[in-house]
Amino acid sequence: MKSFPGVGGSDGAGTVEELGEGVTSFQKGDRVLLQCLDYVPDRGTFQQYAIADAHRISKIPNNLSFDEAATVPLGLATAAVGLYAPKAPMGGAALTPPWVEGGKDKYKDQPALVTGGSSSVGQFAIQLLKLSGFNPIISTTSARNFDYVRAAGATHVVDYHTTPYASLRAAVEKITAAPIPVVYDAISSDDSQRASWDILAPNGAMVVTTGMRQPVVGKPGEDAEDGKHLARVYGSVDAVKDVEFGNQLYASLTELLESGALKPNQVEILPNGLAGVPDAVARFGRGAISGAKLVARVGETP
Ligand SMILES: NC(=O)c1ccc[n+]([C@@H]2O[C@H](COP(=O)([O-])OP(=O)(O)OC[C@H]3O[C@@H](n4cnc5c(N)ncnc54)[C@H](OP(=O)(O)O)[C@@H]3O)[C@@H](O)[C@H]2O)c1
Repeated sequence: MKSFPGVGGSDGAGTVEELGEGVTSFQKGDRVLLQCLDYVPDRGTFQQYAIADAHRISKIPNNLSFDEAATVPLGLATAAVGLYAPKAPMGGAALTPPWVEGGKDKYKDQPALVTGGSSSVGQFAIQLLKLSGFNPIISTTSARNFDYVRAAGATHVVDYHTTPYASLRAAVEKITAAPIPVVYDAISSDDSQRASWDILAPNGAMVVTTGMRQPVVGKPGEDAEDGKHLARVYGSVDAVKDVEFGNQLYASLTELLESGALKPNQVEILPNGLAGVPDAVARFGRGAISGAKLVARVGETP
């Protein structure tokens, strides 16, 4: 929060009620999704009406509900910025995004690893890597989420309960003998970071989601002596200096969702709208959320 009172809520979906001056790409009544900026009072999504920049909203295609659409922005931005944004202390791995010319399938048949494939960020990272052509895509998850993670595009799933991170390298080597040029460590626990860094090939890139927390391997935004690059991501396209990065993603998003190239997270609706959020946060703290994004319908708040 930069100022108080602040309004929380990063992601949202709803109907355009009013257009700012000069906005021609949307109409009143359009169904749109958005990621708020900076949690300032008129932007946060934990309220009935929020203001959004026209370049940072996308129309929701008919095949998605508001609930599903609201699961997309932060998870997708964290995955996309980590993989495709330029290298920087808070940046990405600088791969070519699949939504720009020449990006789709550019990394055909190169292997990739994603820890936490059933997390919101992880399942978007898998989907993006698939669009980029990576194959095989190996991911860690609980056995109960194997099908969900495969549906996102993982070709191989490893149960991190029966294969701890200390044994992950051996498990990956059984799947492929090829060097792994990209690892997206969506979980970024100390043990997943160490295992991911060890598995990453020289000159490869690894993304961590530690936010302001210092990673336990590598130096954010820098190459190690063996050329391994550590990308520490901030989950907003507005954290990327080049505004075109976010503009292009948001301009492509409706089509990516409509075609099914990108799928939203599984959804769990909270009871009582925003009044259900404190319990949800407590569940999150206990690690009791699995393979789903929790959605509060603001209008159902008592
Ligand atoms: N830097 C940023 O800007 C930024 C932005 C967004 C998120 N994040 C961070 O990124 C991480 C992921 O966020 P999220 O919202 O995507 O999380 P989430 O959806 O809440 O993650 C829940 C999932 O994590 C999985 N999980 C937990 N421990 C695991 C482990 N050791 N190995 C593999 N999977 C594990 C669980 O899988 P199973 O149920 O299958 O066991 C569960 O499905 C979090 O640490 C979050 O703080 C950072």
